[in-house]
Amino acid sequence: MRRQIVAGNWKMNCDLSETEALINDLKAQTIPETTSVMIAPTYTNLQSAVKMLADQPITVAAQNMHQASNGAYTGEISAGMLKSIGVDHVILGHSERRAYFKETDALLAEKVSTALENKMTVIFCFGEELVDRTHGREFDVVKDQLKKGLFHLSESDWGSIILAYEPVWAIGTGETATPDQAQEMHAFIRKTLSEKYSDAMAQSVSILYGGSVKPGNAAEIFGKEDVDGGLIGGASLDAESFMGIVNAFA
Ligand code: 13P
Repeated sequence: MRRQIVAGNWKMNCDLSETEALINDLKAQTIPETTSVMIAPTYTNLQSAVKMLADQPITVAAQNMHQASNGAYTGEISAGMLKSIGVDHVILGHSERRAYFKETDALLAEKVSTALENKMTVIFCFGEELVDRTHGREFDVVKDQLKKGLFHLSESDWGSIILAYEPVWAIGTGETATPDQAQEMHAFIRKTLSEKYSDAMAQSVSILYGGSVKPGNAAEIFGKEDVDGGLIGGASLDAESFMGIVNAFA
């Protein structure tokens, strides 16, 4: 059975006191045993988050990391540094990293390898832009991103990969893929994995949907066969709305 996962990507929001307040709000909630819940605060607040959540069923993830293990990379953070503060999950390939920080598929493939070498779990993001969808090439783009970012991995490596399909046109726009559009793409992703690896492997990978998920639309999206949860931006910054999404699984 695949894991049901809801992860909150806090992006560049919440200073230390806001982070602590939001975590305290989350701690006051009951997390359903059937769902894995993660939050990804910004770097400077990861250590506090880990400490505050030590006895809680909420995993703390980083939003990015560098591909090298150490060295002269001013301003960067390594996998080993994250591991040393108790963070063993990392989001890689977010469309904002791809667009604003020019992260390429080849770079992401390196980052993924480094994360796995450090025994971390990767939440790997990918998804087409609006122009791809209007030109009918969304499936080709998604397949290409998977191929270039992840197909160097062995089948057993995939035990440490969570996929997050985030169509760029749906991120922070209020525009959500319809549940049928999400299902169609998730089924395509699973088929692509099955062709490259095996059906058993394809069936075992959790594929999250991200892009304007809210408490009001989560149940319908999560109700689709190949959607295993969500990667949530804006709606994860409020405990009540985030928990509304966490509790949206039927
Ligand atoms: P929104 O939920 O704000 O659309 O953001 C989605 C996202 O980018 C999560 O990584």
